[in-house]
Amino acid sequence: MSVFTRRNLLKASAVAGVYGAGFGLAGRFSQAEAVPEPQILKTTKIDANLTGTGATKDVLSYGTDGMPPVLRMRQGEAFAARLINGIDEPTTIHWHGLRIPNNMDGVPFLTQPYVYTGCKFDYAFTPPDAGTFWYHPHCNTLIQMGHGMTGVIVVENPKDPKFDSEIVINLRDWRLGGDGQFIAQFRPRDTAKSGTYGTVRTANWQLEPQYDAPAGGLVRLRLAITDVTRIYSFRMEGGEATVIAIDGNPVPKRFPLDLLQLGPGQRLELAVRMPDSEGAVATLVDVRSSNPKTLATLRAVGNSLKHDIGDLAPLEANPVKSVDPSSAEHIQLILSATAENTAENSICGSLGYSFWAINKVPWQGDTSDPTAPLSELKLGKSYVFDMENVTPHAHPIHLHGMSFSVLSSSVRDVMPFVSDTYLIQPDEKVQLGLVADNPGDWLLHCHIIEHQKTGMTSYLRVV
Ligand code: C2O
Ligand code: CU
Repeated sequence: MSVFTRRNLLKASAVAGVYGAGFGLAGRFSQAEAVPEPQILKTTKIDANLTGTGATKDVLSYGTDGMPPVLRMRQGEAFAARLINGIDEPTTIHWHGLRIPNNMDGVPFLTQPYVYTGCKFDYAFTPPDAGTFWYHPHCNTLIQMGHGMTGVIVVENPKDPKFDSEIVINLRDWRLGGDGQFIAQFRPRDTAKSGTYGTVRTANWQLEPQYDAPAGGLVRLRLAITDVTRIYSFRMEGGEATVIAIDGNPVPKRFPLDLLQLGPGQRLELAVRMPDSEGAVATLVDVRSSNPKTLATLRAVGNSLKHDIGDLAPLEANPVKSVDPSSAEHIQLILSATAENTAENSICGSLGYSFWAINKVPWQGDTSDPTAPLSELKLGKSYVFDMENVTPHAHPIHLHGMSFSVLSSSVRDVMPFVSDTYLIQPDEKVQLGLVADNPGDWLLHCHIIEHQKTGMTSYLRVV
């Protein structure tokens, strides 16, 4: 199943020499700040019961307890993790949405060498923002993520308002056949459209799990879409749900959840007011397809706490610099299909096709090797990306290392929310503004992994 070829591995090991000593625990640590004990994240191949009817083989995870652990960090406090590679191909970890130093970003050959089988890599950084984020490999991603290596990160802010309960849900699918075993992770004709969907849909690796929460209480529900393909349209039935944060950042103004559409890579935080009567259920539903799908349910327990969503204090905004649109330089990003239907072999595995392009360049693999950056940004300056989707499909476009604000869209009113992933609709033009305040090479790609791996990726250099 591995798509690594000998040629790629040789090429990879030649490049690996570039990264030398002095790597490791760099970043924003001051001398005085002690690096904490690293959390061990060992990649493993396991059996897991995903369908309720027996073990699926060749599931990939971090650790041996089923789903990758939810990692808890604290805003402004040092965190360390040691990746130990126990699977039979190279891997890395990318910390999706965390604005951390470039050498901790986990992109092979752009920011770090491969972590080969049996090898380790120490990550250490201080998350500057509080919110819901996630982690995943950036190597042979369709297989590694498709088979399970996607975990949720919660970065706590001690000043957050108190909820009666908190529930974290990792939303994703699996491509399994009738026998519960993995089938081909993609079909080229679907890759050229909206991507290949999973056959089994789970929340926290379970089918429609139910969680208990205090009746009449306020639940902080953290959702992360870690699927490689699926776009969700969320609705809450039987409970009152208010959107409080999207993609790790508090929304400027709270609003009731009503068919909010979010794509792979995105996160949603809801304040759910539980029903008052014991045993009543609030149901989280995805209504994107004609067949609405229950994702998970929350069941009210105990006597009603009679809490009021209006009493919930606001979340503190993250310290993201605001763009200065008047001095900003504009960078055009055109997302298109490409006529060129071949793919070069590339490090980190190729799907063997190219269907997509950014600014007419179809990039290959997980990384941009060997093409030059799409644009070079000056450290500290403001930029506006004028992004346009000329394809008939939606694309969740993700930028590493920096957060942007959504300034305007040709198809809707936008609130100026801060994010790392924007789900751009067909024929939409959007303006995303940021201050280029994090030096290094940062990927920009579609988070429908098949699109990423068949051309829709690129990178920006901040110097
Ligand atoms: Cu979620 Cu390039 O990453
Ligand atoms: Cu896409």
